[in-house]
Amino acid sequence: MNYLVTGCSRGVGLEICKVLLEQGHCVYGVARSHSDSFSQLEKEYPDCLFFKNVDLSDSDNVRSILFKDFVSNKVILHGFVNNAAIAYDDIVTNLQLSKLQEMYAVNVFTPMLVTKYAIRNMLLHHTKGCIIHISSISVHTGYKGLAMYASSKGALEAFSKNTAREWGALGIRSNVVVPGFMETTMSSTLTQEQKARIYKRTSLKQATDIHSVAEMVAFLLSDKALSITGQNINVDSGTI
Ligand SMILES: NC(=O)c1ccc[n+]([C@@H]2O[C@H](COP(=O)([O-])OP(=O)(O)OC[C@H]3O[C@@H](n4cnc5c(N)ncnc54)[C@H](OP(=O)(O)O)[C@@H]3O)[C@@H](O)[C@H]2O)c1
Repeated sequence: MNYLVTGCSRGVGLEICKVLLEQGHCVYGVARSHSDSFSQLEKEYPDCLFFKNVDLSDSDNVRSILFKDFVSNKVILHGFVNNAAIAYDDIVTNLQLSKLQEMYAVNVFTPMLVTKYAIRNMLLHHTKGCIIHISSISVHTGYKGLAMYASSKGALEAFSKNTAREWGALGIRSNVVVPGFMETTMSSTLTQEQKARIYKRTSLKQATDIHSVAEMVAFLLSDKALSITGQNINVDSGTI
């Protein structure tokens, strides 16, 4: 199978690439940086891992950059994993429109456009493909300073449920994986004390494991999840 995965250079996106490659799939990875870890994977899977340097904040050019010369109509796309995101953290009274717009471009507008072209590819090839959005537990629990970020993920959850409704009759599925806090670059600005407070709110009293998130993504993409669509699946160490 061929899967398009955004945010492949590190963190959860890189782990998703690893799991899909181990399972024998081909991955079309997208990020701004071609990281050392990704290069290592390319050496291991030279025939099945492809990279495109794309700035997803540039929503206007996403079609020409991604779907003309990378995932062209010659590629039969079986799934799109919308993983790349940025977090604009601040309290609401400090909100700046330009920062909000940039985050929405990366987290919401471009992923919605990529979904459009991914579904068009699936329609062209009569593929019963699958879309996965990576959300965040902050949508459901609320955290001080994450109102803007969580709102962008909430938008994706609504988009996914409605996409599932719209395209289910053709066998195209859309689901959301909702991770808890993970130890990645995105959460690296938190102090140990802040992290300890966050982990205290989970049943397992620990960070969410990125491999567990990646395995859930791979499961939802697979035929094993054929009857699962329009769902939000939490992988969050049991966040309360
Ligand atoms: N970390 C957490 O605690 C946490 C919790 C819940 C949900 N999540 C969600 O999980 C997903 C993965 O997060 P992560 O923790 O792995 O984050 P991360 O380590 O910061 O990685 C983000 C990825 O997105 C890419 N990216 C960011 N901006 C981009 C842009 N403008 N254009 C192209 N690629 C861009 C980055 O690549 P480049 O920088 O190379 O472009 C990187 O590969 C995100 O959707 C995040 O919202 C994270």
